[in-house]
Amino acid sequence: MRFRFSRVQLLAVTLLGLAISGAQAEIRQTSVWWLPRNVTMFGHEIDFIFYVILVLTGVTAVAVFSVMIYFIVKYRAKPGVSAVHSHGNNTLEVIWTGIPVFIFLALAIYGNEQWTQMRLKTPPADALPVAVIGEQFGWNVRYPGADGKLAKMTAASVTKENPFGVDSADPAGLDDFTTYGELVFPVDRPIRLYLGSKDVIHAFYVPEFRLYQDMVPGRIYDFVWLKAEQTGQFQLACNQLCGQGHYKMFGKLSVVPESEYEAWAKGKAPQPTAAKATSTVPVVMAGR
Ligand code: CUA
Repeated sequence: MRFRFSRVQLLAVTLLGLAISGAQAEIRQTSVWWLPRNVTMFGHEIDFIFYVILVLTGVTAVAVFSVMIYFIVKYRAKPGVSAVHSHGNNTLEVIWTGIPVFIFLALAIYGNEQWTQMRLKTPPADALPVAVIGEQFGWNVRYPGADGKLAKMTAASVTKENPFGVDSADPAGLDDFTTYGELVFPVDRPIRLYLGSKDVIHAFYVPEFRLYQDMVPGRIYDFVWLKAEQTGQFQLACNQLCGQGHYKMFGKLSVVPESEYEAWAKGKAPQPTAAKATSTVPVVMAGR
């Protein structure tokens, strides 16, 4: 028996495929064809240098190809006309080597300065520390409790049962709370990330944050920080091929007003032990 698809059937399958992929991409709220909106402080500089490079290379490409096509046509082989041999022009060589050198140096110096601000300067002291440890295939997230401090983490102590590598006796960690794949960041407040991995290399990537950082097992990076300037719902996507389930390694990330963050964190905080856990709030039964 032979299967043959008509063009209409193929078109239907293609459209269905596009519809499904479109449905999965719904989390991307803005600008599917261009850069997603930027919501972080450092994103402005990253976008700026992106546009500078785009314009420089774009103008150069158009100029070079135009001249090249013009010369190809103008000096095409013609019967009875012999080729002219040129040995170059030193002045021109110096000019068109010197200008790119100057541009590249300027870009490198500017880029290096921005990188220093982003990754090498100590994050602000009032930053909210949040630990994110990748695993096949999800995100372990740890927040500080009321003390604003995370338990001390050591990469060497990371195990299957202890993804954050914390010392359970550390008092700073007693009020920490954890989530799986759910992150909430307060807007306009610096966030200091502690990034690590339980198994293989993963990557913390949020396009709207213009933030990408590999997470390498055996290390906990504490130098990545950011400040979101707009609220919204985003997707934390692992951006390092990490195994068969890589494609579904998503996290839900919201940036919300500080008060909303406080309320969320309160709801997630570990419950006090039995004696204090008895609620005095009457239980309301649903229905009838
Ligand atoms: Cu984790 Cu890809």
